[in-house]
Amino acid sequence: MKIVLGPASEELGEKIAELANLEPVRVAYKTFPDGEAYVRLKSSVKDEHVIIVQTTSAPQDSRLIQLALLAGASKKNGALRVTAVVPYLGYARQDKIFLEGEGASIETMAYMLNAAGIDDLVTVNVHSEKALKKFPFPAKTLSAIPLVSKYFVEKGFEKVFALAPDKGAMYIAKQAQRVLGGGVGHLEKKRDRHTGRTTQIGQNLDVKGQTVIVFDDIISTGGTIIGAAKILQELGAKKIFAACVHPILAGDAEQRILNSGVEEIVGTDSVPSHVSKVSLAPLIAKTLKAPKSG
Ligand code: R5P
Repeated sequence: MKIVLGPASEELGEKIAELANLEPVRVAYKTFPDGEAYVRLKSSVKDEHVIIVQTTSAPQDSRLIQLALLAGASKKNGALRVTAVVPYLGYARQDKIFLEGEGASIETMAYMLNAAGIDDLVTVNVHSEKALKKFPFPAKTLSAIPLVSKYFVEKGFEKVFALAPDKGAMYIAKQAQRVLGGGVGHLEKKRDRHTGRTTQIGQNLDVKGQTVIVFDDIISTGGTIIGAAKILQELGAKKIFAACVHPILAGDAEQRILNSGVEEIVGTDSVPSHVSKVSLAPLIAKTLKAPKSG
């Protein structure tokens, strides 16, 4: 087994290679003057099971193309099997048809990657696990929430409240609660499918005087966290923190979140940024080393 260090996740790939004791395959890459992508594997993958580590956060399209090209190059150069490790799976939020005329974008991406040579896929806290079942190859999602929660425990947080900003994220808040040992609850969130705008309401949440960590899978525009922070302030929370797996932080999201009264934002290196305080390497290395069942 060898590990290909995709251009979007070189640092994470190096860490995984070290922890899983796998030989890294470095990649030469560039963009041609006309905008086309180029990749080349710098060492042999012949007769190997190849793991390609490549996240697909922005710029999503070029990173997906690099991933597809790396899979194709691996197979052309004799790889026996290609597993894609895609910490942040772009397009996963369009997992079904919401409005007439749309497609299920994540399914389209999976078929494209399969045609390129990918045989199976590992991702982290995918938006909807159900979507993975429709992929043309086996795909699994890991949860980084225990690792993110441990970050807070190591900083001395105890029995703090884990809040999900919507019902869908309640499984995340519950996983966090198991590590943090405090209370757990969720807000109600509604999204207008045409404008993308969301509204949230808090219901019977007793967080007065408490430290609350809002846990979500993704922080993108920050709207969800900012809305939650506003409600928490109204409910008398003492301190508010924001934690996620995928810190996309589009535009000025980070500043807007901090301006809304959130003390700190914590994310992982699924999307490398300066809030990526938790590395996914141990989680991914463990799954790569785990004996295959069956
Ligand atoms: C949506 O349901 C997700 O779990 C996140 O809550 C959402 O993607 C966050 O987006 P934003 O930061 O733009 O509110």
